[in-house]
Order: sequence, then C-alpha cells, then structure tokens
Amino acid sequence: MTFRRLDTADAANDLGGKRALVRVDFNVPMHEGKVSDDTRLRAALPTIEMLRRQGAKVALLAHFDRPKGKRVPEMSLKPIVEPLAALLGAPVAFADDCVGEIAKAAIEALPAGGVVLLENTRYHAGEETNDPALARQMAALGDLYVNDAFSAAHRAHVSTEGLAHLLPAYAGKSMEAELDALDAALGNPKRPVMGIVGGSKVSSKIDLLKNLVSRLDRLAIGGGMANTFLYAQGYDVGASYCEKDLADTAREIMENARKANCELLLPVDTVVSVRMEHGAPVFTRALGELDEDERILDAGPETVARLTAAMDASKTLIWNGPLGVFEIPPFDKATVDAARHAASLARAGTLVAVAGGGDTVAALNHAGAADDLTFVSTAGGAFLEWMEGKPLPGVEALKV
Ligand code: 3PG
Repeated sequence: MTFRRLDTADAANDLGGKRALVRVDFNVPMHEGKVSDDTRLRAALPTIEMLRRQGAKVALLAHFDRPKGKRVPEMSLKPIVEPLAALLGAPVAFADDCVGEIAKAAIEALPAGGVVLLENTRYHAGEETNDPALARQMAALGDLYVNDAFSAAHRAHVSTEGLAHLLPAYAGKSMEAELDALDAALGNPKRPVMGIVGGSKVSSKIDLLKNLVSRLDRLAIGGGMANTFLYAQGYDVGASYCEKDLADTAREIMENARKANCELLLPVDTVVSVRMEHGAPVFTRALGELDEDERILDAGPETVARLTAAMDASKTLIWNGPLGVFEIPPFDKATVDAARHAASLARAGTLVAVAGGGDTVAALNHAGAADDLTFVSTAGGAFLEWMEGKPLPGVEALKV
C-alpha cells in the first residue's frame, strides 16, 4: 500500500519550528479519572519523539469517548497530560480547546520540540460531521498534519480525514506499522493464508466472514459463533449460545467458502458444561452429543490439534476473536493453546501472525502470546472494518 510516510517525505527535511498537528488515539480505558491502560499512549510515542527531535511544535489532536458535540467535563483529555508527560520524559502543555484563539496561543507558546495536548475534538459537533468550516479552523493551526490513529481511521471526521485534504498529510509511525502489518496479512500476504475468527456473535461478523472466505486459503471459526455453524449443519447444540435465526447466513457463508476454495475449519469436538463458571464440571463431547442443559464453552482438543496443524501448513495467519470463554478457565484452553502455537511459529519466523480487534488482545495477553506475534493491532472497530474489506477514510486520505 502506498501512503505518505513521515520519514520519507519532504516533511522530514525541515521541521524546525513547524507546527505539526498530530492525530493520536487517546481514547484509553480510565478508572476513577486515571488512565488504567496506557497502551495507546505508548503507541503514540515514536511519532511524537521523532517530531520533537526535529524541532517541530507538536499539537496533539484526540477524542475521548462520545460527548456528541458538547463540553462534557468527564470526557476531558486533561487526565492524559500527566501520564503522557511521564512517558515522554518532557512537559506536555494543555489547551482547553482544539481550535480558535486558545489553541492558537498554546501552540505559539511552545518552544521548538514542545508538546501540547488539545482538548477533545468531539466537544465540537462539526468534528463528527467532518464540517469543512471546522476543518479550516483546525488546519489554520498547523503547517502539516500527521495521522497516527489507525484505530480511529474508520471515522471520517475532521481530525481523522478532513485535515488530510487541507495540509500536507503523513502517516505517523504507529499508523505506518499498522498499515504495513495489515498489508502483509491480507493485502499482499505470503500464502497459504489462514484466518481464525472467534467471538460470540455471527451477527456482528457477517461482512467480515464473507470477505475473508473470498480472500483466505483456510478459515477457522471458533467461539460462540461456531455454534451457529454447527446448528446450521444439523448438530444439536443443547443450551449453547446460538443465533438460530442466522442458520441460513451460516450456510451461505459455508457455500461461499466452498466456491472460493477456502477450507473452512469448524469445531470437530467441544468442551461443555452446564454452568459458565470456574469449578463447574467440564466434559469433552463429540459434535451433537451434549445434554440439553449443557453449553459449549470452548473448542475441544481434536479441534485445537487441527488448528495448530493448519497453522503449521500456513505462511500467514490473521486472528480476530477468542475460541472459547477465555475469561473463565478452563474454557480458555483452546485459545491459549492455539495462541501459544501461533506465537512459537511467529518466533521461529515461519508464520506471519497478525491479530487485533475487540477482546482479541486481551485473550492473547492472557495466553502470554501477544509479544511474540508478528503484530498485534491496538484497534477495535477499525481493525474489524479493515477485515471486512471496507476502505477506511482516515487511511484513504493518506494514500498517494
Ligand atoms: C476506539 O476506541 O476504537 C476508537 O478510538 C474509536 O472510537 P469511537 O468508536 O468512539 O469512534
């Protein structure tokens, strides 16, 4: 994928004193007014540090939560200032607005290499409507625009899309890493390429499954959504979570996979229990052989063996969603075993393994596998839309 990179372009030539408007994703988990997971702050550091080294004035644009065009004090970005300054090892100023005189003065006051965080872009209604007047106001604050927020790139907002048309625009380092990894996984992958899609609902992943079966060589379906496929094949699923009204959709996806020559790996055995809680009696069951009050809560060992063999035979893996109820052991076993296997292949260099979206990162962290995969995306919705094959407005605007 060709897009404007920060360090290859003329942007890198002479940034001394230039005002860089940098869109980051600081929509981070907070607990009692404090950042409880700073992954997204850390992700923004390479770009900020690079711009600082070159003497640019760095003005950070970000949203927090969904204030819907109003100033909602609980959704201020102010609590980010301190942890960000600590990570950077440098002061971070704060401006109470992301446009107008307040923002302008704060940026003007910065020394070369200084950093200011501008208040929540979503305090302005025009942000989400991509209002051209707000875009012009914001663009007037900077000399260049850097988008480092892949995880917000599915939004066509002023700070994620509009600005790219008004200023010289570049992908930041974190955006660049995301795009390169995603390209290696689905854009231009080494084949055979395998997917794993888990999670509970087929209904939230219909477009994603349809896109993947047309592009992958093999696709494993796990988690609660596999129950719908088993049901569509005529198996009894007992008291399992199952979207029975989507049986036709599941059959259509299976038929699409057959026509596209995409091998579909559905569970061949299951781990069941009557209760979804730690310490409940657990049984491994062949397909369809569960009691009416039993629920499928994880994939069985035979299924995991097939998955790991399929990974061995693949060169690229793209993973979204857990294979079972990984939050409640022992129903984490299939996810943990499969994740560790993927991690060992990635570590050995035989598999390009990319993962992301929703609770995938939590599942991989739980398995202790995240650090060894080739790339783990910090994005939720953007990662899913990209897996669905949809163009992401924030990325499209950076393409050359
Ligand atoms: C996210 O947290 O996934 C992004 O920051 C996008 O947030 P949004 O869904 O509120 O647009």
